[in-house]
Amino acid sequence: MKKLAPSILSADFWSLGEQISACVEGGADLIHFDVMDGHFVPNITFGPHLLESIKKHCPLPLDAHLMIENPERYIPDFVKAGADMVSVHVENTPHLHRTLELIKGLGAKAGVVINPGTPLSALEEALYHVDFVLLMSVNPGFGGQRFIERSLQRLRKLRSMIELLNPGILLEVDGGIKEENIVEVAKAGADILVVGSGIFGAEDIRAQTRKLKALVTSSEAL
Ligand code: DX5
Ligand code: ZN
Repeated sequence: MKKLAPSILSADFWSLGEQISACVEGGADLIHFDVMDGHFVPNITFGPHLLESIKKHCPLPLDAHLMIENPERYIPDFVKAGADMVSVHVENTPHLHRTLELIKGLGAKAGVVINPGTPLSALEEALYHVDFVLLMSVNPGFGGQRFIERSLQRLRKLRSMIELLNPGILLEVDGGIKEENIVEVAKAGADILVVGSGIFGAEDIRAQTRKLKALVTSSEAL
């Protein structure tokens, strides 16, 4: 079953709780958190405390996408705060195996993220050690960017690498996914679809989540 993961990066933080509840009611499968430190990416967002507050009220798994330097230093705090899935970038994690083992040892699902400019071959070894891979379809740092079309070819190629090397792992895609292209991305091999502005930019977040979830589900029958 393919999953829909709203990214709260584009939410209105004044009414964050209500907006997440609308995603839950609309049928979202997980909530995606874009953690940025102003160093690895040119933007700053939030830390574990936000996840901790949401965990108390949100029944869905929390997915922490860490775009920070020295992620291993903060991973225990994120898992303690309630992250069920934690992903780190292949570009800034020199001891990737150790970091993935740290995440798994704390009881969370471990993922590796890859930027649009990084060759997929950089993932080859990691595929044996992760629970999921996150393919970026925009350069990380901001919501509301345009989907990089080349990502579809990369997605198909990564899907076949996964089938060949470790078919049990999930493939998540993040950036520029909207109503117009979500079916195409799902059909190209994504298991988890992250959507930020395509959900939180809508007038009715509940209805938009429901609509995108239906599109994701329908893509499985195509
Ligand atoms: C970008 C983030 C994405 C982003 C997605 O650094 O990783 O999760 O919030 O937002 P949209 O769907 O607006 O591209
Ligand atoms: Zn993300």
